[in-house]
Amino acid sequence: MSEAIVDSPNADQNIQIRRVAAACGAEISDVDLSQPLDNETFDAIETALVEHEVIVFRDQDISTEDQKAFGRRFGDLTVHPFAPSSEEAPELIVFDNDADNPPWGTDVWHSDETFREAPPLGTMLRALIVPEYGGDTLFASMSAAYDGLSDRMQQFISGLEAVHDFKPFRNLFDSDPASREKLRAFEDRYPPAVHPVVRTHPVSGRKVIFVNPQFTLGIKGMDDAESRALLGLLFHQAEIPEYQYRHQWAPHTMVLWDNRSVQHYAIHDYYPNRRKLERITIKGDKPYSDVPTVALEVVRSRKGARAISHDAHGGHAPKQE
Ligand SMILES: [Fe+2]
Repeated sequence: MSEAIVDSPNADQNIQIRRVAAACGAEISDVDLSQPLDNETFDAIETALVEHEVIVFRDQDISTEDQKAFGRRFGDLTVHPFAPSSEEAPELIVFDNDADNPPWGTDVWHSDETFREAPPLGTMLRALIVPEYGGDTLFASMSAAYDGLSDRMQQFISGLEAVHDFKPFRNLFDSDPASREKLRAFEDRYPPAVHPVVRTHPVSGRKVIFVNPQFTLGIKGMDDAESRALLGLLFHQAEIPEYQYRHQWAPHTMVLWDNRSVQHYAIHDYYPNRRKLERITIKGDKPYSDVPTVALEVVRSRKGARAISHDAHGGHAPKQE
């Protein structure tokens, strides 16, 4: 055992993991995130993240640098293209909301940054100042939501693809020529991303509903009315309480969520009180789907059957009698 590990308060300790809701969410204790983690402890935390999808650390009086160092164990940190950040710490987003700076844009169900070709693996938020009440964050397990669908619906949506766009951030651009040019540059850099409607989690293999009302525009290959109806049903799944964990913040609480498997909603009910959190974001992979061939064949033959039905017995065909 190296000297560093012997000196670490985390050495020779078993972290405790306690589930705090049925579908997602677990609290991890007996770990000190101000200290480097040995590989065994980190592996246990990484496994817990995939299994519980949202992991919560209480009473971690740590620095921004500690938070970033912990985040880097999971992967590279990324810079949000639209959120303000400082030049010294571009990967850090500070949410500091009060009467003069009301919260904006996070009171909608979403996974972070799905307008990117490779949305983040995870997001880590650490609370510094919290209101006396309010300002909770809701999480919904979209793998539990997928499991809760009927076999028929699972089969129907598997193999579909959806188009995602940075649509809420378009409001940040004014209509003057310079701003429009800036917007066009962002459009070139972040063209609409196409992701599977049912994503396969790259570690657990679980299937996840991967469309959200903040960034998903529509479903490829469907007309607008069909797409809106189906997306409405899928968006609604995040609102079902049985799939949710409601997180209450306290100073020095840090939460890391698996952005591949949960959606979240930041409740805007604390205005004009102050709430300050620091966020870092961990780079992820391009989403994929390992839909079994049989499901794809069903989608194809259904489409084919409808086309055949239209040709042979469609409503436009003249009646024979
Ligand atoms: Fe978010």
